[in-house]
Amino acid sequence: MPIRILPPQVAAMIAAGEVVERPASVVKELVENAVDAGATRIDISVRGANHSGIVVSDNGAGMPPEDLDHALMRHATSKLDHGRISLVTTLGFRGEALPSIAAVAEVSIVSRPLGQDVAFCVRQAHGGPVSAARPCAGGFGTSITVSGLFDNTPARLKFLKSARTERAWIRYVVDRAAVANPQIAFSLSFQTGDPVRYRASSHPERIADVLGGLLKTDGLWIDHREGPVGISGMVTMPSAVDVPSSATVEFFVNGRHISDRQLSAALQQPYRELVGTDKSPHAAIMIEVPPEMLDINVHPRKSEIRFADYRAVTSALMTAVSSGLRDSGLRSPGSIADMARSLATASAPDISDARRRPLGRFVGQSNGSWLIAETMDGLVIIDQHAAHERVILERLKAASLDIPDTVVRLPTGAVRSIDDFEAAALEEHGDVFSTMGFAVAVSARAATLTAYPSILSGCAPSSLLDMLVDSASRGTAAGMMREAMWEMLATAACKAAIKAGDVLTPERADALLREIEATPAASHCNHGRPTVAFLNNADLGKLFERTG
Ligand SMILES: Nc1ncnc2c1ncn2[C@@H]1O[C@H](COP(=O)(O)OP(=O)(O)OP(=O)(O)O)[C@@H](O)[C@H]1O
Ligand SMILES: [Mg+2]
Repeated sequence: MPIRILPPQVAAMIAAGEVVERPASVVKELVENAVDAGATRIDISVRGANHSGIVVSDNGAGMPPEDLDHALMRHATSKLDHGRISLVTTLGFRGEALPSIAAVAEVSIVSRPLGQDVAFCVRQAHGGPVSAARPCAGGFGTSITVSGLFDNTPARLKFLKSARTERAWIRYVVDRAAVANPQIAFSLSFQTGDPVRYRASSHPERIADVLGGLLKTDGLWIDHREGPVGISGMVTMPSAVDVPSSATVEFFVNGRHISDRQLSAALQQPYRELVGTDKSPHAAIMIEVPPEMLDINVHPRKSEIRFADYRAVTSALMTAVSSGLRDSGLRSPGSIADMARSLATASAPDISDARRRPLGRFVGQSNGSWLIAETMDGLVIIDQHAAHERVILERLKAASLDIPDTVVRLPTGAVRSIDDFEAAALEEHGDVFSTMGFAVAVSARAATLTAYPSILSGCAPSSLLDMLVDSASRGTAAGMMREAMWEMLATAACKAAIKAGDVLTPERADALLREIEATPAASHCNHGRPTVAFLNNADLGKLFERTG
């Protein structure tokens, strides 16, 4: 076949394929344009089958009629000063979003800058001609209406996920825009259900409002500048960490939501050093760098970027997090963590004298929380709650092999209400849940737990259901679901464990020491903190200033 230049309409549709993947992509591009226009309020409404009708209205700068005539043209942008992408500080810069959307939908734009008597509007349908700007009714700012999305690209429609999942994606992009821009009030409404509203607020408040969960209850605000790099945001305390695949970790670079594995790894580093955990905090981190330190033009949907000096950014991030954690009062002597770790690899003891065992002979309990034991080398102090938690978790793991045979059935079921995102997540992970012995029915607005593995029979069914919804909706990648479930079981283990303050008989305490010794990896609790500390005879001697 001879080479032919594609007709503009076909070329536009191909380009749109890169930018407009699903209804949420349209919402993302329109919201970004509104943010770039300096809006302080953005209202989004989504209607119709397949979310094919989308209206985004803002109170930003608006466009005079001469700009409106260009807005739908490909490669027409007001955001590139002298064509220098390296100086861009706006979210948009390619002049591609509106024409791409108009290639796969009908788009009409009504806009009125401050001081202009009337609004003007333009319209383009499915890559056809753009109408000339003409006066029409409209307030200050811009309102863009998209209808019949993907009507002319049935293949794209087929690749959309369930209505619920697509709706969850829309919520996802609006939520990220809201986290990045706390000064902007947002509303998002769908045909059914209550609208989501975020009032203009401070950054910590907005993050807690939008991302909620552990960031709301255990969040720590950090703020740090290192040379040209500014870091601010919220991370969770070391007690509120998760397997990396289940942690909500959001990065924003100069207001742009991006994904970046290296940054996630750097975020984890201070937790590893200070607390000895491989788990990840939940976090929402804003990174501000001069635009010339960035290449923003490396991804079709602009969801990845490149830093000119990666080290400067990761180092500022790690310092921000570790000094935030230190300032919050966290202290964890590395030497104790190291010694506790060496316990796991201790060689087989001669056990004729309990003092020769790794955790020694039980001597007493202090403050209802610490078990004190004596070994040949010195003293051992054990966090009874954390260590017991670990023992239970390991037992749960061992018992999980035969879970499907042993389930507790709930005749009436435990019920809770759920939103669309949660429902979609539960449906998606249903298979994993059932292989673990859980039975969850999902209906329009509710989830019902009708069975759960009997190893968890000490737990309240309603809290098990909460944990299922939580672990499913944390956006866990399919292959990692089992790991997320273990996290959940660890939480259940917490609830059933011996609490701080429980007084133990010497027999029970001694039994616990032996259980801990027999448990793999018991030297760290389920949250990654050490459970055991050692004070050897030399350390004790130093305390009393004895030498030799
Ligand atoms: N809500 C809005 N308010 C004011 N001007 C707008 C709005 N939406 C679009 N524009 C104008 O239309 C132009 C084209 O928008 P479009 O989204 O297609 O491209 P862009 O934002 O410049 O770049 P990108 O393709 O990277 O998003 C913008 O440069 C801007 O001048
Ligand atoms: Mg844009």
